[in-house]
Amino acid sequence: MLTEDQQQTLKEQACASRDRAYAPYSNFRVGASVLGASGTVYTGANIENAAYSPTICAERLAIFKAIDAGESEIIAVAVCTENGASPCGPCRQVMREFAAGAMPVFMMDLEGNGRVKTLAELLPDSFGPENLQEEIGD
Ligand code: THU
Repeated sequence: MLTEDQQQTLKEQACASRDRAYAPYSNFRVGASVLGASGTVYTGANIENAAYSPTICAERLAIFKAIDAGESEIIAVAVCTENGASPCGPCRQVMREFAAGAMPVFMMDLEGNGRVKTLAELLPDSFGPENLQEEIGD
């Protein structure tokens, strides 16, 4: 359960990060923030590439920064776009690696309006690390 302060900070950080997006090809700027289990917030923005496919989404950059900083679990995500869009499929799958299904994902527009869904709502019946833990032959 996040405090009001934590929610507010997470949402503000996501929209502040959007200002740092590098999106000259799509012009669709995305900012994200992630709350690690330690209480630290990590941010990311989408960074595009002239070859297109090396582009990284805001959410994945923020999550990878969190993991690289030593977090082993993320407990909330916020995404900020011009229209309150929801995270793409690959980003949902990366969240699934490091978060519980009950993790809240806040989807915000530029006015700070938004909605929240759990990761399990965004990625139902998902494949995750525990699916690889059964021994072959079981
Ligand atoms: N994008 C994100 O950063 N996150 C998403 O969840 C969806 C898409 C970026 C990728 C690309 O730079 C731009 O938005 C348009 O697809």
